[in-house]
Amino acid sequence: MSRLIIVSNRVSPPVGEGQANQGGLAVALSSALRETNGIWFGWSGNEIEQFTGQINMARAGGVTSATIDLEPQDIDEYYNGFANRTLWPLFHDRTDLAEFERTFAGGYERVNARFAETMLPLITPDDLVWVHDYHLIPLGSELRQRDVKNRIGFFLHTPWPVARLLLSLPHHRQLVEALFDYDLLGFQCQAWLDSFLEYVRDQFPEAQIDAKGNIRVGGRDVRVVSCPIGIDAKEFIAGANSAEAAKAGQAMLKSLDGRSLIIGVDRLDYSKGLEQRFHGYERLLLDHPDYQETVSLLQIAPPSRADVVSYQDIRKQLDALSGHINGEFATVHWVPLRYVNRGYDRTSLAGMFRIARVGLVTPLRDGMNLVAKEYVAAQDPEDPGVLILSKFAGAAEQMQSALLVNPFSPEELSDALAQALSMPLEERKARWQPLRESVEREDVHCWLRCFLKALSGKGADVISFDEARHQGKNKQDAEHPEGIEARSFA
Ligand code: G6P
Repeated sequence: MSRLIIVSNRVSPPVGEGQANQGGLAVALSSALRETNGIWFGWSGNEIEQFTGQINMARAGGVTSATIDLEPQDIDEYYNGFANRTLWPLFHDRTDLAEFERTFAGGYERVNARFAETMLPLITPDDLVWVHDYHLIPLGSELRQRDVKNRIGFFLHTPWPVARLLLSLPHHRQLVEALFDYDLLGFQCQAWLDSFLEYVRDQFPEAQIDAKGNIRVGGRDVRVVSCPIGIDAKEFIAGANSAEAAKAGQAMLKSLDGRSLIIGVDRLDYSKGLEQRFHGYERLLLDHPDYQETVSLLQIAPPSRADVVSYQDIRKQLDALSGHINGEFATVHWVPLRYVNRGYDRTSLAGMFRIARVGLVTPLRDGMNLVAKEYVAAQDPEDPGVLILSKFAGAAEQMQSALLVNPFSPEELSDALAQALSMPLEERKARWQPLRESVEREDVHCWLRCFLKALSGKGADVISFDEARHQGKNKQDAEHPEGIEARSFA
């Protein structure tokens, strides 16, 4: 297999296998690199007075990373600016928060060009180049301008907005044209892919699009796929069954003193619907006073992108709202909402997920959401908890037997919480079983094979994730007990 070069904005410091105390994206990419012995290129997260283009190479746990430092203006205009003040809100349907400044767009172009220029010497002719996420949309085009002929793929971890929202971005056509320089575009689910195609049909009427998602436009062929990311399910389940996780679970149970735990774990981001979630919980305590003193909501929300005003605002709002709810309902023996602004290692989280009666995953808009999958993976098969999942997370397409809710409605959230907390064991098992199967079957390895097979361009036998999944489901017989992975993507 060709060597893989992964490029993403942020590269976490490499860690050894099994020490993966990282977020979902980082864990998924590390797994990919271990499998293909590749290089992960990107920003170190560090600042340097003036950009030098010097690459820092490091190797750990089978992963080689190659990082660069960025200067303050780059960080302001590219990362805090165009990526997180323009594209992130726009891609999460928050045009009200999106800021359109020319200096941001300029910084975005400059840093993408710097990425291309710096990584150029690392690319050898047979490498597959895989670019990740909204920070780096123009990178493929920048590489083509430097005569890179390799196959280059792009995967978007966020949603793709509906066409009429994207039109509010100045130079939206330029952004999409840059995507046409890739050989393959991957989206987390069919809904985001459909929005992308809707935009292409509308803005590029000359484009020819076939039923398999091949687009011929501007003299180039681009293939688009829906290829949902998964978790390293085996690893996560093993973590959830470990003594360390059990210890974290036991400590939590002790502090709960017989109360049922509802758990939420999210980066502190306005797209995660935390305000609405807190209102839904407040509604539950008002509408069902029996739950007062018998449940506890643990919301873990490590702060993120703290230099961006909209993140400072959401933090202030949540501080006030959590204080309000605790002030309103707490007793001397009970704190209804434990709101924690720090991160926890994945094994401790797995232990807490396992003992939580309810996993509350209610983003207003989310590309995928791996916490939903981790919550499911961590459950005890004999006594599984209930996943409450937003209809507007990419994960909802695969996780239909969760309790699906409209995250904007406190009443709906309250009803779902009451239903989950009182759900009989039989129904909990019946809902959880298919979720667990899909989390295991459509895991991070499945995602990798789906994307990499399509990227390596093995011609007509390339099949979409959905086709592969359905073929796997239909033929999941005794002959292939291991599911679709080994067969369809081999
Ligand atoms: C989302 C994005 C990722 C990003 C992560 C953390 O999941 O899709 O690309 O790395 O958030 O955000 P941060 O700004 O801290 O890198």
